[in-house]
Amino acid sequence: TYTPVPEDKFSFGLWTVQYPGRDPFGEPTRPAMDPVRAVEKLAEIGAYGVNFHDDDVVPFGSSDAEREKILDAFKKSLTDTGMVVTTATTNLFGHPVFKDGAFTSNLRDVRRFALKKTMRNIDLAAELGAKVYVAWGGREGAESQASKDVMVALDRYKEAFDVLGDYVTEKGYDLRFAIEPKPNEPRGDILLPTIGHALAFIERLERPELVGVNPEIGHEEMAGMNAAAGYAQAMWQGKLYHIDLNGQNGPKYDQDLRFGAGNVRGAFWIVDTLLAGGYDGPVHFDFKTPRTEDDNGVWVSAEACMRNYLILREKAQAFRADPEVQAALEASHLPELSVPTLAEGETWQTLVDAADPDVETIGARGMAFERLDQLALEHLYGIR
Ligand code: GCO
Ligand code: MN
Ligand code: MN
Ligand code: MN
Repeated sequence: TYTPVPEDKFSFGLWTVQYPGRDPFGEPTRPAMDPVRAVEKLAEIGAYGVNFHDDDVVPFGSSDAEREKILDAFKKSLTDTGMVVTTATTNLFGHPVFKDGAFTSNLRDVRRFALKKTMRNIDLAAELGAKVYVAWGGREGAESQASKDVMVALDRYKEAFDVLGDYVTEKGYDLRFAIEPKPNEPRGDILLPTIGHALAFIERLERPELVGVNPEIGHEEMAGMNAAAGYAQAMWQGKLYHIDLNGQNGPKYDQDLRFGAGNVRGAFWIVDTLLAGGYDGPVHFDFKTPRTEDDNGVWVSAEACMRNYLILREKAQAFRADPEVQAALEASHLPELSVPTLAEGETWQTLVDAADPDVETIGARGMAFERLDQLALEHLYGIR
């Protein structure tokens, strides 16, 4: 029953299944995976779309002729499998040239090269029909305070998105950008560390309508944030252009566990929040199969991301449909939160003139949230 269908819009970053298990302490434990194989296998397990960094498909430094040849094979695999390119992004972190960042490197030549590299892949993204272009600034940041003037770096960050906004507009591309926040790793402190920082930054851009966010569950949890609440605010602001779903156990290194592992309760509320907010973009997974696993383990892990989403979706729907939950929501006054604080025609003056409520009685009354949350947990634990 938990079988993905195209309407689920499940998509994966190519780099997720391609991840060979390299970490700061150890060599890869799995061989490199050709992008064509990644596309074919993802199609086989029921994914609908893919997302890629330029360098996931065409290795950095390839000649034009090599690039052409690789892209032909890649495009053929898309046509053969019917996989949709939902999203694309730029690798602005792997090569040593980006060690101090890309759009905010102290080195001007690096910033110019980063924009050129990005525009080149935007052309490919547009050609392949991607609608969202993700920007994760993993190297934009610092390890020590004097090495980065944050206010000036933000000027350069804004400049980069303004140039890219001009680029897609003048090229006539139907493409919007999604900034992916992360608090740290690989830099000690990364610029735009949380959803809130990114949303505030976007408002300072020349074309804010072209830029939204791509929040990753694990990154918000690394910062001690409630990811579901962040997703909700992004939707409230009309800025949830894309999502990176995975699993994380609290504030520590970026675990990138398969979706549904790690903070299970958080995952349940993410799905509930996406359903409530009517998110209809790709349901995208950004996870890394632990290096303990072989090739078979990679596909077990990838399939489990989709399966866990479908399981949690069923549970979230059952939770919302349960008459006891609906009664508990009433008892907790959730419907009342939807009523505007001032009635039609009222102003601040009405409140100044109003009699005070019976604060002692209200203050003594329980909100019944524990009952409500227990019902959610019982749905999640599978006994309801
Ligand atoms: C991370 C990020 C990346 C980005 C990817 C797409 O490694 O912490 O999540 O995986 O999502 O580079 O921009
Ligand atoms: Mn991550
Ligand atoms: Mn991510
Ligand atoms: Mn990642």
